[in-house]
Amino acid sequence: MVSPKNIVILTGSGISAESGVATFRDTGGVWAKYDYREVATPEGFAADPELVHRFYNDRRRGLSSAAPNEAHLALGELEVGVVARGGAMTLITQNVDDLHERAGSRNLLHMHGELSKSQCAACGEDLSTETACSVCERPGALRPYVVWFGEMPRFMDEAMDAIMSADLFVSIGTSGSVYPAAGFVSDARNAGASAMELNLEPSENAHLFTDSRYGPATKIVPAWVREILGGESGVD
Ligand code: APR
Repeated sequence: MVSPKNIVILTGSGISAESGVATFRDTGGVWAKYDYREVATPEGFAADPELVHRFYNDRRRGLSSAAPNEAHLALGELEVGVVARGGAMTLITQNVDDLHERAGSRNLLHMHGELSKSQCAACGEDLSTETACSVCERPGALRPYVVWFGEMPRFMDEAMDAIMSADLFVSIGTSGSVYPAAGFVSDARNAGASAMELNLEPSENAHLFTDSRYGPATKIVPAWVREILGGESGVD
């Protein structure tokens, strides 16, 4: 396999599933337990901010017992290997967990925000309707640093710049059901990139990819990275 120079990778909750972080739409997933309209929309936050703070505080606390898995670590290795060859790799994640950065990924765009910023950065306290802003000192106006349904994802200009110059776009662990992320594969293909899907099972937009591998991320992602790096990596 010719080693691609510019790789753009999109990840979803499936890459963190084997770290014990729940996905959203699989059986028993987050949206089977919560109504996204109540906990992941501006309207839901306005109606019941305490419920929304509890939802994100619980998910953030759950992260403290999660660790990056072999798939996260392999992507960290891939970035080092690609850059060492004079290439570039951009990792766009829909995930709000911090497992990619803990696995060493650097060029990382959290398009849906970050759970770790849903707390007081100084003392680590949970957010609540009593938490006051350190600038205007008004209590109750702080919200989780997470992009809700109906809001514009973050870093879209940087993401599109990377996608437009990619020669390979890889989607890992996402159902392809939420836009604009689900549209990135078409943007990449239209810009001339090839596209690969690595997932437990075919996603909703599986037909848009030129190549695909199916299975648990901790198996198929390290195997794919070994192929790309030609076995020179520490990926075992
Ligand atoms: N290995 C690889 N893929 C997996 C694994 C695994 N171990 N377990 C699950 N998957 C796949 C599922 O097959 C599914 O296609 O991960 C995908 C998870 O899909 P969703 O639950 O829809 O999660 P995601 O695609 O990340 O959701 C996108 O929707 O609710 C919003 O903001 C939320 O960022 C999220 C966005």
